[in-house]
Amino acid sequence: MIALYPGSFDPLTYGHLDVIERAVRLFDCVVVAILTNPDKSPLFSIEERICQIQKATAHLDRVEVDTFHGLTVNFARQRGAQVLIRGLRAVSDFELELQMAQTNRTLAPEIETLFLSTSTVHSFLSSSLVKGIARLGGPVSHMVPSHIEVALSERYGVREEIS
Ligand code: PNS
Repeated sequence: MIALYPGSFDPLTYGHLDVIERAVRLFDCVVVAILTNPDKSPLFSIEERICQIQKATAHLDRVEVDTFHGLTVNFARQRGAQVLIRGLRAVSDFELELQMAQTNRTLAPEIETLFLSTSTVHSFLSSSLVKGIARLGGPVSHMVPSHIEVALSERYGVREEIS
């Protein structure tokens, strides 16, 4: 069975990686699907995010990285995925995630959404938080793989210590 893990991944965090590692134990193939959203101006290009995720998941068999635009369920159908994976960090995620899952079910009743709870050590993490800290020169080595930490510090230029 194929599972699709859709998201922005701008950038991938250890929280995302934790969800991917858990999903790969449950499915024959996990497709990490990066949304190319014309309404958002991401920090990292699609090509950069593909490379970042491929490198971060190189130790895992049966993980593919792909990109899509438009509806997630249409791309899931295109990839032959029967399951959408989403990570839940805290109760605060639940309302939006439930709404998305229920919306997706009306669009594609044959596709199931499966929520995986992020491990507690990563439950505070989000890509926005990582970017906010990296932009201020703070340490993010416990939040993202080292190659993404390097990419963040390069993107934000000379690191300044928080005063
Ligand atoms: O990492 P994110 O930004 O929380 O991921 C959100 C994502 C990409 C899963 C969601 O915005 C999405 O599925 N967008 C595609 C448009 C879509 O299918 N909308 C209907 C579901 S509400």
